Amino acid sequence: MSNKAILEYDGKKYEFPVLIGTENEVAIDIEKLRGQSGIITLDPGFKNTGSCKSAITFLDGEKGILQYRGYTIEELSEKSSFIEVAFLLIFGELPTQVELEKFKKDIKKESMVSEEMKNILDGFPRSAHPMGVLSSLTSALTAFNPIPVNVNDPKAVYNAVCKIIGKFAVISAWAFRNSEGLPLNYSDNTVDYVENFMQLMFKIPTEKYVVSPAVVKAMDQLLILHEDHEQNCSTATVRVVGSSHAGLFASISAGVSALWGPLHGGANQAVIEMLEEIQNDGGDVEKFILKAKDPNDPFRLMGFGHRVYKNFDPRAKIIKKAADDVLESLGIEDPILDIAKHLEEVALKDEYFVSRKLYPNVDFYSGIIYRALGIPTGMFTVMFAVGRLPGWIAQWLEMREGKEPIGRPRQLYVGATKRPYVDIDKR
Ligand code: SDX
Repeated sequence: MSNKAILEYDGKKYEFPVLIGTENEVAIDIEKLRGQSGIITLDPGFKNTGSCKSAITFLDGEKGILQYRGYTIEELSEKSSFIEVAFLLIFGELPTQVELEKFKKDIKKESMVSEEMKNILDGFPRSAHPMGVLSSLTSALTAFNPIPVNVNDPKAVYNAVCKIIGKFAVISAWAFRNSEGLPLNYSDNTVDYVENFMQLMFKIPTEKYVVSPAVVKAMDQLLILHEDHEQNCSTATVRVVGSSHAGLFASISAGVSALWGPLHGGANQAVIEMLEEIQNDGGDVEKFILKAKDPNDPFRLMGFGHRVYKNFDPRAKIIKKAADDVLESLGIEDPILDIAKHLEEVALKDEYFVSRKLYPNVDFYSGIIYRALGIPTGMFTVMFAVGRLPGWIAQWLEMREGKEPIGRPRQLYVGATKRPYVDIDKR
C-alpha cells in the first residue's frame, strides 16, 4: 500500500502522508492541508473524517465486528463483567484478580455522594427527564470535587476514575428515585456494582430487597455491550469538551447530554414508545414500515440504521438472544417483543432498508430487556449512560494523556459578504 496521497488542485499538487492502523484501516493525514494549500475539507457529520488515533475500541461496520482493546464483544459479554471491562477499557489490559478486587474495593469507597447534592436534586420537578437530572448532577459533582485531575499522575487518575464510577451509579439511581417521588437509597458495599445499582434503583425502606442472579447477569451483560463504541456522538463530545481542559465530570456531563438525543442513546426509549404505538394502533407493522419509507413522513424506524454498521450491529444480535433468554427465565410474555421481531423480519426483506443497509442497532432490543428487568422507559437512556461511562472515561484520558490539541473545526462560510451598516430609519 502507498504511504502517501496526492491532492491536485488548480494546477498544483499537494502530498500527504497515509497512515495504516493496526487493523489495516487507511487514513490520509491532512494536518498540513490548510497550511500548504489554504484549502479545508468539508464533511457534515464527520462521515468520512477521523478525529483522532485511538487504541481503545475497533469496529468494522461492514463486517459487524466490535472489539474492546482487541477482545471481541462476544467473548467479553459472555465471560467478563462490567467492572472488569471498565478496567480493560480505561487501563488497557484485563486486570489480575488482585487488581480487580482492589478496583472494586476502591470504587465502593467512592459510593457515597455529598448530602448537599440532595438539595440540587430537590430542585427538580418529578416530571424532569432523568437524563437532564443526571447531566446536571454529574456537572454538580465538580462543585464537590473541585481539584482538576492531574492526568500526569497515575494515582490521581486512578482515584478520579474510581470516584466517578462510584458516584455515577448513585446519582443515576437518584434521578430515577426523584422522578418516582421515592426516598433516596445509599449504596450497599457488601454487594457488587450491578447488584448495588439495582438496589439503589428499587429497594424500598419497608422491605428487604432481593434481586435474582439472572437479572444481575442480564444487566451486567447489557452494560458491557454499551461500554464503548469508538467516536460516537457522545464520546466525540466528551473528547472535544475535555480538549479545552474542562474537568472530567464536566466532560462526562456533556456526554450525557449528547447521548440523550433520540438519534443516539435516546433511541432505546424511542424504540419502546414506537413499539407501543404500533401495538396500540392494532399491530399493523406494514403500515409503520410504509411511514418509515415515506420521505415526507418524519417517522423513522427507531432502533434501525447506524452511521457505521452497514451490517447487523453485533450488539443487537447478542441483545436479541438475551431478550428471549431473560423473558423466558422471568416467565414474561411481552407482546412488543413479537412486534419487534415481526418489524425486523419485514424490514430486512424490504428494498428500502436493504438498499440503505439499515439493520437493527444496539437500541432495538435493549429496551425490551430493561422493561423485563423493571426499568421504566424514561430510565432506558440513563442505563445507556451508566454502561457508556467507562468508555467515556477511557476516551477522555486517552485524549488528555495524548496531549491532543483543543477541538476546533473550521467551516465554509456561505453568508453575506462585507456590507455597510444601514441606519434604522433607512431600512
Ligand atoms: C446509537 O455512532 C454510534 O456508534 C452510536 C451508538 C453507540 O453505541 O454509541 O451505536 C448508539 O446511537 C445507535 C443509533 C440509535 N439511533 C436510532 O436508532 C435512530 C434511528 N436511526 C437513524 O436516525 C439513523 O440511522 C442514524 C442516526 C442512526 C444514522 O444516521 P446517518 O448515518 O446520518 O444516516 P442518514 O440519516 O443519512 O440515513 C441514510 C438514509 C436516509 O435515506 P435517504 O436520504 O438516502 O433516502 O437512510 C434513511 C435516511 O432517511 N434512514 C432511515 C433510518 N435511518 C436512516 N429511514 C428510516 N428509518 C431509519 N431508522
